[in-house]
Amino acid sequence: MASLVTESSLTKVSASARDFLKKPKQLLIDGCWVSAASGKTFNVFDPATSDTIAQVAEGDAEDINLAVASSRRAFSGPWSQMTPSERGKIIWKLGDLVLENLDELAELESLDNGKPLAVAKIADVPLTADLFHYMAGWATKLEGNTIPISVPYAPGAKFFAYTRRDPIGVVGQIIPWNFPLLMAAWKIGPALTTGNTIILKPAEQTPLSALRLGELALEAGLPPGVLNVVTGYGETAGSALASHDDVDKIAFTGSTEVGKIIVRAAAGNLKKVTLELGGKSPTVVFKDVADIDTAVQGAANAIFFNHGQCCAAGSRLLVEKDIFDEVTQGVAEIANKIKLGAGVDGATEMGPLVSEEQRDRVSGFIKDGLEAGATALAGGNSLDEKGYFVPPTVFTNTRPEMKIVREEIFGPVVVAEPFDDLEGVMKVANSTDFGLASSIWTRDISKAHRAAEIMRAGTVWINCHNVFDAAMPFGGYKQSGWGREMGHEALELYTETKAVCVAL
Ligand code: NAI
Ligand code: MG
Repeated sequence: MASLVTESSLTKVSASARDFLKKPKQLLIDGCWVSAASGKTFNVFDPATSDTIAQVAEGDAEDINLAVASSRRAFSGPWSQMTPSERGKIIWKLGDLVLENLDELAELESLDNGKPLAVAKIADVPLTADLFHYMAGWATKLEGNTIPISVPYAPGAKFFAYTRRDPIGVVGQIIPWNFPLLMAAWKIGPALTTGNTIILKPAEQTPLSALRLGELALEAGLPPGVLNVVTGYGETAGSALASHDDVDKIAFTGSTEVGKIIVRAAAGNLKKVTLELGGKSPTVVFKDVADIDTAVQGAANAIFFNHGQCCAAGSRLLVEKDIFDEVTQGVAEIANKIKLGAGVDGATEMGPLVSEEQRDRVSGFIKDGLEAGATALAGGNSLDEKGYFVPPTVFTNTRPEMKIVREEIFGPVVVAEPFDDLEGVMKVANSTDFGLASSIWTRDISKAHRAAEIMRAGTVWINCHNVFDAAMPFGGYKQSGWGREMGHEALELYTETKAVCVAL
């Protein structure tokens, strides 16, 4: 087989992206770019070729201490004196700057993560800008309530009671590598609009776009220390942030395993915790779906978008018995036609996985599935490539106890299973430790809404999948997390409610 990548990805990106990569990649602390206190750096790889494309400062506990001290000062500095309107304007400007730099940000994201450049251009970067624009508007709309109170033990006394929505304080945010820029925005947007200050720790696999975002945040006028960006490893920098006694809240997106570590680390000072964790989301296709081809394409997109490295990926395909063969064959045909290649290559439809570790992890799941007796209708093989490629894979003949059915694979691998009726399929759909997302495909409106009610998941898409919007809350039931991101729900998790009671 000819190699999927024939030349360095760097030759395919613009001069501005190459210039950014060449500059030393430092930490953003207190409004300045600085080396790690230890002087250490780590390499960032192009997942399409495994070539080193940048060297980034390796922050650890000492740098986290400096960043937290800076965010603490900033919390009571000029940032706290700004009017909500001034705060909103800076966040809006940040959204504008993201759009002005769309091409460069998309190139950095594609190079760093491996995703197709076209996807970064139409999805990751515009959604990032939209999130900032949406959140900017909330700065001026964080209202409390006035509350009529009775106080039965003080007859005749009069009181005026109201609530305020105050920022929580210094917030640590730890993000993953699947949508590096967008995950930064999901976290930073609501924290800023509510007046908090931030220490952001990007994933070690994909630190580049967060660093560029740090530059844009300064350009937008964020005062020093309001957003600190500390690149480094999870076990060192991430862990120091999660356990820091002067951090008031930690927000995390990543594996359920690390989510549990974060909860334990947060116990020391009982900092607030929000978590957006793994999933094993069902795509449920009924035989009365309006158009089978649309459902087949929808089911394929549900799992193959972003190479399956999507917390909401439709990784369990549940299909009503009569159309099971047609739907699974259709998804397998699509899988077989997907063109793999480097993200920055214009012809690429699916890039490599993010890292060697993820390629090995996902390949391990595929091997395990085959050994357990599942049938690979598409994929199932490994590719002899320098980059971290895994072929899109469709499994049938699975059993509920198989690892590929129970655990999050986080790659382009779907397990398909037939069902008989609504009641049966909803039991299967909900028979998981996760509860992040789901989709229902049917033209029977009542059935769709019944299924939506029964589904134990934070998102139910009907006749669509992977539709995200800054205004729509996203998060998990069960072990998929705590709290919601986006929408006005996110604001609640970045504010403390203060009740004020005045004797009249
Ligand atoms: P991970 O959970 O280890 O990494 C996510 C973030 O947490 C990174 O920024 C990492 O540096 C940080 N981190 C790691 N260990 C930490 C610790 N002890 N304390 C504080 N921060 C820490 O995820 P990983 O290892 O990259 O991927 C493993 C699996 O996790 C994937 O195969 C997938 O199943 C799941 N995952 C889920 C994501 C989601 O969006 N729900 C995103 C990324 C991974
Ligand atoms: Mg990990």
